[in-house]
Amino acid sequence: MSGYEIIDHELDAVVVGAGGAGLRATLGLAQAGLRTACITKVFPTRSHTVAAQGGIAASLGNIEKDDWRWHMYDTVKGSDWLGDQDAIEYMCREAPETVIELEHMGLPFSRTEKGLIYQRPFGGHMKEFGKAPVPRACAAADRTGHALLHTLYQQSLKHQAEFFVEYFALDLIMVDGECAGVMALCLEDGTIHRFHANATILATGGYGRVYFSCTSAHTCTGDGGGMVLRAGLPLQDMEFMQFHPTGIYGAGMLITEGARGEGGYLTNALGERFMERYAPTAKDLASRDVVSRAMTIEIREGRGVGPRKDHIHLHLEHLPAELLAERLPGISESAKIFAGVDVTKEPIPVVPTAHYCMGGIPTNYKGEVLCPKDGDPDAIVPGLYAAGEAACVSVHGANRLGCNSLLDIVVFGRSAALTVAENLKGGQPMKRLPDDAGEAAIARLDRYRNANGGTPTAKLRVEMQHTMQSKAPVFRTGEELAQGVEQLAGLWEQMADIHVSDRSLVWNSDLVETLELENLMLQSLSLCHGALAREESRGAHAREDFPKRDDEHWMKHTLAFVDDKGAVRLDYRPVHTYTLTDEVSYIEPKERVY
Ligand code: FUM
Repeated sequence: MSGYEIIDHELDAVVVGAGGAGLRATLGLAQAGLRTACITKVFPTRSHTVAAQGGIAASLGNIEKDDWRWHMYDTVKGSDWLGDQDAIEYMCREAPETVIELEHMGLPFSRTEKGLIYQRPFGGHMKEFGKAPVPRACAAADRTGHALLHTLYQQSLKHQAEFFVEYFALDLIMVDGECAGVMALCLEDGTIHRFHANATILATGGYGRVYFSCTSAHTCTGDGGGMVLRAGLPLQDMEFMQFHPTGIYGAGMLITEGARGEGGYLTNALGERFMERYAPTAKDLASRDVVSRAMTIEIREGRGVGPRKDHIHLHLEHLPAELLAERLPGISESAKIFAGVDVTKEPIPVVPTAHYCMGGIPTNYKGEVLCPKDGDPDAIVPGLYAAGEAACVSVHGANRLGCNSLLDIVVFGRSAALTVAENLKGGQPMKRLPDDAGEAAIARLDRYRNANGGTPTAKLRVEMQHTMQSKAPVFRTGEELAQGVEQLAGLWEQMADIHVSDRSLVWNSDLVETLELENLMLQSLSLCHGALAREESRGAHAREDFPKRDDEHWMKHTLAFVDDKGAVRLDYRPVHTYTLTDEVSYIEPKERVY
């Protein structure tokens, strides 16, 4: 398309995103000697991984005896039997080695008195197949994600990985059903870049910003998911959005579950520790879906705190001030800044807040992207890989356990790099690109850049976010979800009437936010349609009109395809109910009791 300067790059591999998954993948590819580019819309150490607080799960057993099989059991149970058990086995077995590798790379973990990596209890992590909480979250105070990002970025630089910082990925380059790279816009100078690569790894993070109140950074706009849908490929299990029990009331900032791991607890307006009623064994450390639902019930039944009785109190003031300063300095500061609370003296006002996307780009445990073909539900899309929150491996199934996310990003970022290195071992020649490769992406960019309708991007975005907040919250009904589907269809139509006021290409945030909005909108549609269709309650998907889990009909992954008219088509894939090795047998579905 005339008027746009295109700069071409030829690589073995391109990684999109520089959070924990993207950086670990980039590092692995650089270590394997592959010509690799990592493109990222924010500076790597500003990626959303920086916000992860409480820890990274691994059965190191530094405080109490632990076992990767117990970790696997908890993860399958936490997933409400929607997780793929081969992938969960892979992740839990790899966890101890992965964390030790990070330690050797220089990650500044907190220490026990013996000098071992410090571990704290986290929701749903139990010993001896569910008997009692066990300290499994390996922590760097309450800034574990921050420490992880810095470590991986430094290591990537040490191995001469090449970074394209502040580049916005526009679309995949698909040739005959294979991925041949990605198109991107350089935000600084407006040049268009065509990254032609044998392997493309999407590590673009989640789409938490579909909700009005969320713990996700403004950058979490599901850009990889948007690209995948536009390429005609599906997203998986999008209806499963995790609500973190302790977002700061009114601000949405995360207060780590590690706060409850250190002895914090929740109370209602009566001062009652209500979690004892909902989860007699795990109490405040039950898994997140359980705690979020319990809090919501307390609020709904009139036992919320505050003048509007619409939130809950998290108490830390009974803990020693030195412990708070040493182990929870970050959230002590957040509570002061965002709630005006001194945690040594008063409780923090909290409320369940959208936090983590269990759904995403379907992959196997090797990081290869899947799309059913010719009757094979696990058919691989050649050249395309995904890892981290952008992906749905699926190790979290219907509900992720806290601190399994940092583990997921490192284990599967590494695994994707290993697979790419293995697949490219033979020095694969580059597939020739058609002359018009990437033109459609530029045309889309041009259309939005010159969009002259009557609807400002910010107005449409906030309407979408309010729709999601009210129609697809913690507790859902078919009636409200159907209203959500209808409202979103109307909002999608308004994308044709969008107004972008800045016509330039240099740091055009108006344009970038519009491209991001399209990505968010596609994922809101997938989420609401998947949630309406799934007539059961499982993990984070709580249907009041279908309160029971229904394994007979719904123990399957949802696949959502969205066309350019916003029409959603759903399909399904079987859950992997088999393990990788016979060291642990298939974990049978049963009722979850905490
Ligand atoms: O509560 C937290 O620190 C969050 C961790 C996670 O989402 O894994």
